[in-house]
Amino acid sequence: MQRFTDSVTQYILEHSSAPDPLLMELERQTYLKVLRAQMISGPIQGKILEMISCMVRPKNILELGTFTGYSALCLAKGLAPEGKLITVDINDELEDFAQSFFNRSPYKKQIDFRVGDVCAIVPNLKETFDLVFIDADKRQYPDYYHLVFDKVASGGFIIADDVLWYGKVNEAIPENDTYTQGLMDFNQMVQNDPRVENVIFPVRDGLMIVRKL
Ligand SMILES: C[S@@+](CC[C@H](N)C(=O)[O-])C[C@H]1O[C@@H](n2cnc3c(N)ncnc32)[C@H](O)[C@@H]1O
Repeated sequence: MQRFTDSVTQYILEHSSAPDPLLMELERQTYLKVLRAQMISGPIQGKILEMISCMVRPKNILELGTFTGYSALCLAKGLAPEGKLITVDINDELEDFAQSFFNRSPYKKQIDFRVGDVCAIVPNLKETFDLVFIDADKRQYPDYYHLVFDKVASGGFIIADDVLWYGKVNEAIPENDTYTQGLMDFNQMVQNDPRVENVIFPVRDGLMIVRKL
C-alpha cells in the first residue's frame, strides 16, 4: 500500500488541530508503559474519529477494542448531551490505565468501560447505537459485524479500523495469515451487503465507513 512519507505525515500533523493535553499525555504514557503501543489510534486518526463523531452527534457509541482509551476519548467528544459510549476490551491488565484517563476527562460519566470478550458482552447490550467503532481482533471482524448490525440504528454508522492491513488485503496471502483473511472476508461481506453503503478511507491502515440504510 502507498503510504505517506514521514515528511508528509509531519506536514499533516502540523496542519491539523493538536490533540488536547490529556490525549497527548495518554499517547506518551502508552508508548512509555504499554506493550504494542503502536496499536493506539494517535493524533491524526484520533482527530478524524473525533470529527466523524462530531458530525454524527451520536446518542450512543459502541467501541470494540479500547486498548488504552485513546480512540474512546476522541469519539466521546462528539457525543450528544446525555449520550453514552460503551467500550469493550478483553485485556484486564489495561483496565486501570484506561479508566484513570477516562476519569480525568470531561466524559467520565458518559464512558462505560466493560472488560471482557466482545463476543460475550455485545449480545447482552440492549442499546441501539448511532456509531460503532470496530478495532479489536482482526480475525473476528466478520463475527463483530453480525453481532453489532441489528444494534445499529437506521442511518447509523459502523467504522472499522485496519481494513487495508498494510495493503495485504490486496495480495496473495499464506494460508495461515488469519488476520488478513479476517479483514478480507469482512471487506467482501460489507461490499456484498445491500443493507449498507460503504467506503474505505485510505487513512493509516484503512478505515471502512459503513452507513446502515
Ligand atoms: C488495536 S487495539 C485498539 C486500539 C484503540 N481502539 C485505540 O485506537 O487506541 C485492539 C484491542 O482489542 C482488544 N481485543 C482483542 N480481541 C478482543 C476481544 N475478543 N474482545 C475484546 N477486546 C479484544 C485488545 O486487547 C486490544 O486492546
